[in-house]
Amino acid sequence: MTNPAPKPWEHTKAGQGSAADPLAARFVSSLDYDKRLYTHDIQGSIAHARMLKHVNLITADDLKQIEAGLNEIESEITEQGDAWPGWKVELEDVHMCIEAALIEKTGDAGRKLHTGRSRNDQVALDIRLWLDDASDRISDSIYELIRALVELAEKQGEVVMPSYTHLQRAQPIVVGSELMSWATALDRTVEQIAMADYMFNPLGSGAIAGSALPLDRMHTTGQLSRTYNADGEVIHYGMTELETNSIYATASRDTALNFVFSLSMTSMWLSRWAEQWIIYASTEFGFITLDDLYTTGSSMMPQKQNPDMLELIRGKTGLVYGSLMALLTMCKGLTIGYNRDLQEDKRHVFAAYDSVCDCLDMATRIVKTTKFNEDRIKQGLDKGFLDATSLAEYLVTKGVPFRTAHQVVGKLVQACRDKGYEKLSLLSLDDFNAACVASGGKKVVEKDVYDWLGPENVVKRYQTAGNAGLSGFQEQLKAWKERMKDDGAEG
Ligand code: ARG
Repeated sequence: MTNPAPKPWEHTKAGQGSAADPLAARFVSSLDYDKRLYTHDIQGSIAHARMLKHVNLITADDLKQIEAGLNEIESEITEQGDAWPGWKVELEDVHMCIEAALIEKTGDAGRKLHTGRSRNDQVALDIRLWLDDASDRISDSIYELIRALVELAEKQGEVVMPSYTHLQRAQPIVVGSELMSWATALDRTVEQIAMADYMFNPLGSGAIAGSALPLDRMHTTGQLSRTYNADGEVIHYGMTELETNSIYATASRDTALNFVFSLSMTSMWLSRWAEQWIIYASTEFGFITLDDLYTTGSSMMPQKQNPDMLELIRGKTGLVYGSLMALLTMCKGLTIGYNRDLQEDKRHVFAAYDSVCDCLDMATRIVKTTKFNEDRIKQGLDKGFLDATSLAEYLVTKGVPFRTAHQVVGKLVQACRDKGYEKLSLLSLDDFNAACVASGGKKVVEKDVYDWLGPENVVKRYQTAGNAGLSGFQEQLKAWKERMKDDGAEG
């Protein structure tokens, strides 16, 4: 059998190498999934080539041919996608396919591109460049979702609703404050995403030990940093620092891990939100109505409108957590330095990323089309003594120690239940005062107590910073609108 496209290292072997066994060729290949790194691979190669020219390891003419060849290859791949004839499984991966195509186009100039470089530092660079872009895309999508939440809050944010702890009725809040809670959580995940160490350039670390050639790593880094807009403002920082240890630089997948952890956190929040809205969309709650676009029917039960999109957002979290576990597990047994196990990293990074992108876009559409059912929420608002804590706080304002107030209100709630009253406000001043006296206190309750009762009154009374009532919501809404106005998409 002849070797159809010999890999550049096979000449060290007596036989034909892995390319001669189709299973081995496919097994060792990552082409299926790493093709999507092609723009970043080419970006890194051009930076490397410019550096090689800068330190006189290649000529100006070599560089010209390399740049032209790589740019041509990039357009070809962009145009032809999977059909690009340069994709050859026996060449293993995106790096080798692009380099082979370059050599085909440019001969010796192309043969010089890999000077002082290994696929180990090359792939470490490519994945970071890709992650950096992906983090921008994810952050933009998260801000789109936040924007949708803010818009819904503007429309229906002042509707009074119950809050839940332990999924039991707690205190009254407004819809907007709950919507802003999701926005706050998502905003934190954006901060988390930005924290992965995208800025450290591993290129120049070679296979593990660096190189005896006079590579100028800062020069390469300079090529990969800072994108400016037409006004000369920095719109992207990119790589700004050197990885300081060539062994770590080629052995580590920490950036990928940080990124997938951030995706896991994003998924976790999306899943909690989905769960909340699945409950709210149930007949029992009826707090929200989902648009028909985002529910599905049953093949058997004609009446059904199932919140499948929300369920899938919740369910897809499994894939994202799985990707994180896969990556962590993959790294745990490896000696320091590159091991081929690391090739599998991209499979999990891409799977998690694709899933979270889809979930975010779907969530945004759901939020944009969902309505809170004000009347329905209102009907049940008197259930569960949501104003009990407010009553205790009223007593505190009249000088009753909080622990005593808590006890008094507990007794009053019990009294209501005994009398079949649903609301504390049905009690008389005498009832309130009798309970105070029974707990060893004075008759401190006056007519103004009724201003502290009823969910609508309570949400107006919260005054702590960040509260879930009207004032807290309005403050947060204002801040969000301000951020979104200032920063365009950046929320
Ligand atoms: N496709 C490989 C990866 O993603 C490239 C590295 C191969 N390196 C090696 N020393 N065999 O990890």
